[in-house]
Amino acid sequence: MKTIRWGILGTGLIAQAFAKGLNNLPATELVAVGSRNQASADAFGNEFAIATRHGSYQALARDPNIDVIYVSSPHTEHKENSLLCMNYGKAVLCEKPFSLNLMQAQTMIEYARENNIFLMEAMWTRFLPHIKKIKELIADGAIGEPRMLQADFGFRFPHQPEHRLLNPDLGGGALLDAGVYPVSLAHYLFGEPKEIKSFANFGKTGVDEEVAITMQHGNGQLSLLSTSLTLDLPHEALILGTKGSIRIDKSWFTPTSFTLQQTGKNPEKFVFNLEYEGYNYEALEVNQCLRNGKLESDIMPWKDTLAVMKTLDVLREQWGLKYPSEN
Ligand SMILES: NC(=O)c1ccc[n+]([C@@H]2O[C@H](COP(=O)([O-])OP(=O)(O)OC[C@H]3O[C@@H](n4cnc5c(N)ncnc54)[C@H](OP(=O)(O)O)[C@@H]3O)[C@@H](O)[C@H]2O)c1
Repeated sequence: MKTIRWGILGTGLIAQAFAKGLNNLPATELVAVGSRNQASADAFGNEFAIATRHGSYQALARDPNIDVIYVSSPHTEHKENSLLCMNYGKAVLCEKPFSLNLMQAQTMIEYARENNIFLMEAMWTRFLPHIKKIKELIADGAIGEPRMLQADFGFRFPHQPEHRLLNPDLGGGALLDAGVYPVSLAHYLFGEPKEIKSFANFGKTGVDEEVAITMQHGNGQLSLLSTSLTLDLPHEALILGTKGSIRIDKSWFTPTSFTLQQTGKNPEKFVFNLEYEGYNYEALEVNQCLRNGKLESDIMPWKDTLAVMKTLDVLREQWGLKYPSEN
């Protein structure tokens, strides 16, 4: 099996979690890290035993010993950082939200398409074993026709106005950071929405902190979603169908268990013996796609990424939320 050589762009929180995950995968090497400053690259390299430490993203992108780069910078930087890596022929796994808005996502995907480069949104939840199993059960008709989704992702975040979660200059707000998960799940189950209604309460920094979303999809399916940076939401998800339901345990967007309740039958609990911790599953998908010469993933295809970004744009438009860099 061909070894896939990874580089990591950025040395923040999620980069650390991802680096740990890569270490356990077969035929996978984490060969380089790139940071905006050499000291951070060196510290990250020491912590995760990475041989090559670059003091700029440009040097990382140029490194000829890398096959794919994981872009883990704040949302506002995803487009430029991904384009930089692709410009040097590197495949890219880019964190969620894929970009700040639909227009940026289109630019990134067009570049990948025109230059035959692999590109994928790191919506890690889609690759987790429980979500895979749920998709199979639904396709087999286990709950009849799926008609409704209730899902949320929200937590109480201390008021740190400079932090990327609250800072408009870094694409702050609940929707782009956490709300993108239930939005993406709704798209995965029901496809693109045909109608969206929503409410948002803004905090002191002018970004969305409490959000309620209702979407109606192609066959009338309904999604009831919420996200927040001020409230600890339940983090359960419920998929209701005409012949039963699936309740995904807390936290539904991480590796977890679920219960299938078919009408007239005893509930059936599904628990998974996880081979990996969590972020590894999306990396495995990238490895597999690269080995097979694919440009996009069937599980997280470009059209889904674009559809999700369009929904995020529509929601922000409903609330009049524009980021400074969009003006
Ligand atoms: N999949 C998940 O579960 C998950 C979880 C958390 C976050 N995320 C996503 O991952 C991205 C990063 O989140 P994070 O929590 O890791 O953020 P973070 O801790 O703030 O780290 C972001 C890193 O990006 C780099 N960076 C580049 N330009 C920057 C700028 N203008 N300001 C600040 N940092 C900059 C920095 O690395 P250098 O200083 O080394 O250049 C920084 O350490 C976000 O898009 C977020 O939505 C995903």
